[in-house]
Amino acid sequence: MKILSVETSCDETGAAIVSKNPHENYVKILSNVIASSLTLHSKTGGIIPDIAAREQLNFIIPVVGKAIKDSKIVIKDIDAIAVTLGPGFIGSLLVGVETAKTLAYLWNKPIIPVNHLLGHIYANWLVQEEVSKDLRVPKVSNGELKSPFDTSDTFDTFSTPKFPCIALLVSGGHTDLVLLKNHKQIQWIGGTLDDAAGEAFDKIGRLLNLPYPGGPSIEKVSERGDPNRFTFPRPMIGSKDFNFSFSGLKAAVAREVLKLKNPSKQQVADISRATQNSIIEVLVRKTVKAAKKHNVKSILLGGGVAANQKLKEEMRSQLSILNFQFHVPPAHLCTDNAAMIGAYAAFHYEKTQWNEITANPQLYF
Ligand code: KG4
Ligand code: ZN
Repeated sequence: MKILSVETSCDETGAAIVSKNPHENYVKILSNVIASSLTLHSKTGGIIPDIAAREQLNFIIPVVGKAIKDSKIVIKDIDAIAVTLGPGFIGSLLVGVETAKTLAYLWNKPIIPVNHLLGHIYANWLVQEEVSKDLRVPKVSNGELKSPFDTSDTFDTFSTPKFPCIALLVSGGHTDLVLLKNHKQIQWIGGTLDDAAGEAFDKIGRLLNLPYPGGPSIEKVSERGDPNRFTFPRPMIGSKDFNFSFSGLKAAVAREVLKLKNPSKQQVADISRATQNSIIEVLVRKTVKAAKKHNVKSILLGGGVAANQKLKEEMRSQLSILNFQFHVPPAHLCTDNAAMIGAYAAFHYEKTQWNEITANPQLYF
């Protein structure tokens, strides 16, 4: 089965061709194209939805065309068109959804509507075409399996996540813990009560005058930071539930920045390091707690913040004493992309007619 997938929920315009055989437990990427308006938005320090949607209108047709061309398949080989219904910005979502509907009508293909959040989680089932011919996984200690995209490792055998799984979804708009008993039973068990982890990184990045988006900028300058110079709160770290809150952390950093008036380069690095440590400690503690409570076999990460090297390292170091498999997509599949939308669709081949779907900015679990 071959799926053309389209993703336009935020500022990226993505199209991909993915392929899955019925007996296989993974999804191959045949092509994955992304156009981003990030350079425009790094000038404004955040995404302006109208500008993002206008850029996406320009990008969408060339991006879909390139995805088909790169995959070396032809239109008649496409079995279905998957598209992100939500959540996201309405103008951006409309560009993807209306394009997918038009192509489905023109080419007489069914549509598979996809929740963007589940797409992030399903990035853990993706493999690259050339890798999947020779399925391998890195030799690692602690029984931990890594994505085959991590080319810094030596691979031997490949394994996809084993159910039940706990997924930590950490993106710019969401921080959620999700229990997957199988591909059909997917249950939200907790999430942020206010800011998402990525949002906290972005807002704190802005307070520190770092380039947008704040997450990668804070990760970069943290390398030079002293971890003991500042300590910020670990909000809700001891709470009994699986919820998060990051707005208090942002307020604590804002107070510190105000006190310092004009923080030096070193102080910015120190604050960044302390911010990153706070966010990561809470994320790791709650995820491991959820995994233990639900007695899962695998822990999965997904979403832009999962590209953070320190988060991955910290999660791995915790898991080395516990018996969970750990899966995290390579960085370029953690941030928004269309292949992950195709991955979810390939396991949920629930076909819909083009005129039965509508973009839904509020879509949740
Ligand atoms: O998943 P994503 O690409 O878009 C949404 O669906 O929101 O996530 C974007 C978020 C931004 O908040 C960005 O700052 C954060 O992911 N992010 C990171 C890193 N790379 C991206 N946060 C921390 N460390 C990173 N390396
Ligand atoms: Zn996303």
